[in-house]
Amino acid sequence: MRLDKFICKSTELTRTEAKKVLKSGEVRVNGEVAKNAAMQVHENNTITIDGQELTARGSRYYILHKVVDSICSNVDEGYPSVLNFIEVDKAFDLHIAGRLDADTTGLVLLTDDGRWSHNVISPKKQCQKTYRVWLRNEINDEKLADLVTRFDQGLQLQGEDSLTRPAILTRVAEIDLVDEASYRSEVLLTITEGKYHQVKRMFAAVGNRVVGLHREQIGQITLGDLAPGDWRELTEAEIAQFS
Ligand code: URA
Repeated sequence: MRLDKFICKSTELTRTEAKKVLKSGEVRVNGEVAKNAAMQVHENNTITIDGQELTARGSRYYILHKVVDSICSNVDEGYPSVLNFIEVDKAFDLHIAGRLDADTTGLVLLTDDGRWSHNVISPKKQCQKTYRVWLRNEINDEKLADLVTRFDQGLQLQGEDSLTRPAILTRVAEIDLVDEASYRSEVLLTITEGKYHQVKRMFAAVGNRVVGLHREQIGQITLGDLAPGDWRELTEAEIAQFS
């Protein structure tokens, strides 16, 4: 990794502070003064600041139960970033492994390990993401059978080069007309990719409308009893799934 990134990972310094320390000539790599922030360093290099050897902190992995009106971005833009919820040092150095829309709730994974998040996100890795979806229009038995087939075969979404990958649809509940709810059916949808607004666009493509969306599961990782807005570190077993 870059030398300035290594310094940040192994000290309390910010990227700007790390660059200043580099300029001052206090940093040595294998005994040689190093001033180039972009220099590539490896675990087996000896890196010192003022003679003190640095040891890289391991990568960090968290799960958050996202609430509505928060955004999966590294900056606050209209709504606060989900990173504000993670009460750890340098939370804004983390990135989000699979974004959710501002109005979507549920499971978000955060890390500073790019290879790990690639394994979560890349469609090639076929990692399953399960969403609970509330829909404006009813889905009767006949409609359900048709949708199960169409979602399995793949849909052509506007502006996309390829069909959506096979997705698994199951119905949870049909809501009575007398019910005051703004939705008429509740389903679970499992997909293995993350095109822009994918779930909303898939239901729009079959003439329905998503009125509520909640991510319940990524791979074998679930929210469990994590309350909205709460977060925790991932366990070794959870991390290992995507290592
Ligand atoms: N699909 C969407 O449409 N929105 C999300 O937030 C996640 C998946």
